[in-house]
Amino acid sequence: MSEISLFENTLLSPEVQAQLPAGHTLRALRSNDYERGFLKVLEVLTEVGNHTKQEWLEQFNYLKQHNHEYFTITITDDKRDQVVAAGTIFVERKFVHKNGLVGHIEDIAVDGNQQGKKLGLRIIQALKFIGAQRGCYKVILDCSEKNVPFYEKCGFKQKEYEMAWYVPNETKAKL
Ligand SMILES: CC(C)(COP(=O)(O)OP(=O)(O)OC[C@H]1O[C@@H](n2cnc3c(N)ncnc32)[C@H](O)[C@@H]1OP(=O)(O)O)[C@@H](O)C(=O)NCCC(=O)NCCS
Repeated sequence: MSEISLFENTLLSPEVQAQLPAGHTLRALRSNDYERGFLKVLEVLTEVGNHTKQEWLEQFNYLKQHNHEYFTITITDDKRDQVVAAGTIFVERKFVHKNGLVGHIEDIAVDGNQQGKKLGLRIIQALKFIGAQRGCYKVILDCSEKNVPFYEKCGFKQKEYEMAWYVPNETKAKL
């Protein structure tokens, strides 16, 4: 089966592509990124789980059907044909701000061996571009205290507090 992209290239910032190190490409998530180590890159964030290709494709196909809301991007090292950085912007529709749109940045991850080369910054710039292109009035994210300086360098400022409720296992529906 031929490879599928999550969304169209017009949403990928040409400025960000131009600033990447040689041999690196900014792309929408692709159906064969399972083989390119996308999930391995996410392991810098948290436990990912051992997906089979089928389980990966189930999630990819869901995102594809909702690709007006989910925009996951990658930076690949073309020589090795491997994903080295990734991130997502999720576009939420609200009633406030006259049916306003808010972009939520999620799951920013740079391969452990590739950190400190501005790939994280490029991912954030590319996601901000998508948020602006899709008409969001703001783009927000949650992060740990240690990453605050990184996001400040990416043009964000600290606001409010993050709150979380982890659903107890016995309460959680098995879907
Ligand atoms: C945090 C992370 C995404 C940053 O990506 P990166 O590619 O390593 O960072 P960059 O090279 O793009 O950094 C851009 C700038 O931010 C600075 N920076 C990056 N991380 C920083 C930190 N934790 N504290 C202070 N400054 C930081 C860099 O020094 C650089 O500054 P400069 O422009 O003055 O040189 C990456 O290190 C990572 O994946 N970490 C593990 C997972 C994680 O914490 N993800 C974020 C979840 S909210």
